[in-house]
Amino acid sequence: MIAETRWIKAGDLARLLGLAEDEVTRYLPADLLDGLDYLSLDDAEAGAVRKRALRIVRDPKLTAAGPAMIGRWERGWGEILERVRRQGVSEASLAPQYFRHDVLRLGGRYIRANRTGFEPRLYAAMRAVLFADLFAGVDQVTEFGCGTGHNLLQLHRIFPNLRLTGCDWAAPSQELVGLIAASEDAQMIGVRFDMGILEGREDLQIGAGAGVMTVHALEQLGSRFEPFLDYLVAARPAVALHIEPIVELYDAADPFDAPAIAYHKKRGYLAGFLPALEARAAAGQIEILKSHRSGFGSTFHEAYSIVVWRAV
Ligand SMILES: C[S@@+](CC[C@H](N)C(=O)[O-])C[C@H]1O[C@@H](n2cnc3c(N)ncnc32)[C@H](O)[C@@H]1O
Repeated sequence: MIAETRWIKAGDLARLLGLAEDEVTRYLPADLLDGLDYLSLDDAEAGAVRKRALRIVRDPKLTAAGPAMIGRWERGWGEILERVRRQGVSEASLAPQYFRHDVLRLGGRYIRANRTGFEPRLYAAMRAVLFADLFAGVDQVTEFGCGTGHNLLQLHRIFPNLRLTGCDWAAPSQELVGLIAASEDAQMIGVRFDMGILEGREDLQIGAGAGVMTVHALEQLGSRFEPFLDYLVAARPAVALHIEPIVELYDAADPFDAPAIAYHKKRGYLAGFLPALEARAAAGQIEILKSHRSGFGSTFHEAYSIVVWRAV
């Protein structure tokens, strides 16, 4: 049987984000869902992908996140910095190198995107709606682990008057944020900051009522997030957004989730963060506004779960 091409529509994006469809259409730029067509894999293809995913986890070359990885991030973002110097600031020149999967996880099954760029485009659409929905009422947003700064560029284009800070432990990130600020005439600065040991905190000011976010960045801390979470809670943000792989939102009994859980653990990604937030909510320090598994991911895991909280 020939698989039927499907398209991501506003209703699908709403389900991914845990929002009502009209909330999505209110904020969604018209062209952001263009070209998001895909096929569902049949059982035989999906079985082959699952086997590949389980094999990858046993590959000794698969590295774990952690403090030893700083050199790799410096090198990766150094390459992007060279590209941005050559080509100028744009969404394309700032795009991280690692979006290369065409087989993806969506709604509990594997799909094959019909075009390259499906994953970063859907991810950009998700961010566009979340940013517009969550950051309308704040005057500054700090992104931790901001990498190339492409999320900040997008946020600046939605809210040009926002004061933006991009923190990262890798030095090329601060240069990239500086180039974005200059080319967009944006109120945006880069700060060198290590989320693991809080080095750089004296250079950071998060005002009362600010927004904070991490996007695929807290994942890098594994279970070493507690000092950073204490720091964030003490900053009393009006809104904190995390788009991260949240291992507690998988279903350990579901065979589709088994390879993703194994991959998450092998990579040393975030563990215990959602329970830690729930404990703080129970203690009356914060309110959790959303904790939602989008069901979207790359071939091997789902880095697009959404957690939103605020200080109380
Ligand atoms: C997967 S990238 C995501 C970058 C960016 N948030 C994005 O969405 O494209 C992870 C980022 O976390 C940064 N990072 C990893 N560990 C960190 C740490 N301990 N402190 C600060 N940044 C860190 C890396 O340098 C990298 O920029």
